[in-house]
Amino acid sequence: MTMAARTAADFVPDTADLDELAAAVQGCKGCDLYLDATQAVFGAGSGSAQMVLVGEQPGDQEDKTGAPFVGPAGRLLDKALEAAGIDRDRLYVTNAVKHFKFTLPERGKRRIHKTPSRTEVVACRPWLIQELTALHPDVVVLMGATAAQSLLGTAFRLTAHRGEALRLPGDDESVQLRFDPRVAVTVHPSSVLRGPPSERDKAFDALVRDLRFAAGLLP
Ligand code: URA
Ligand code: SF4
Repeated sequence: MTMAARTAADFVPDTADLDELAAAVQGCKGCDLYLDATQAVFGAGSGSAQMVLVGEQPGDQEDKTGAPFVGPAGRLLDKALEAAGIDRDRLYVTNAVKHFKFTLPERGKRRIHKTPSRTEVVACRPWLIQELTALHPDVVVLMGATAAQSLLGTAFRLTAHRGEALRLPGDDESVQLRFDPRVAVTVHPSSVLRGPPSERDKAFDALVRDLRFAAGLLP
């Protein structure tokens, strides 16, 4: 007998009620990331959002406050949305992985973000699928390689597909939705902050352009 891989699937209630989902995610043990994080960080925003943004995983401040994109990456994202003329209050913002993965440097130092593994991304995907199913948005924006690869597969290279209207793969049962959103990809907002200062304006403008493109896909 082969054991099914451990995932969040056993913890995701069959409901389209986002509040119920947000409560249930706090009990998830679909992978080991719940062990060290403060809490799960579910998506947040408008329950009637036509556009959903997906990041990677909560960071240090998100882990402490319980809300997505409230730290440095969130502030950068807010600026980019404003520049693109998109009202964050009308969006729903979430992450591919709901618990913060980090390493602890010496005492007193800030916890360092660690990229989630493929296993963790796949384990957490049922939450993302359930969120998208509940929201059935017209447009999904995948920000960064983790979000893009969660829904588009490991072979997907986002830099080759910026500014394209994509669809979710219809042949992968694990990412099948009962609706067919337009999908756009862009870099993760924190990559703009990490880049060399001389490149930042260009990287920021490209992020704004991608967000504007995604908003243009709205019906
Ligand atoms: N980075 C992300 O991908 N998501 C957050 O919520 C915060 C930082
Ligand atoms: Fe569950 Fe996702 Fe947290 Fe892992 S990261 S325990 S799958 S909610």
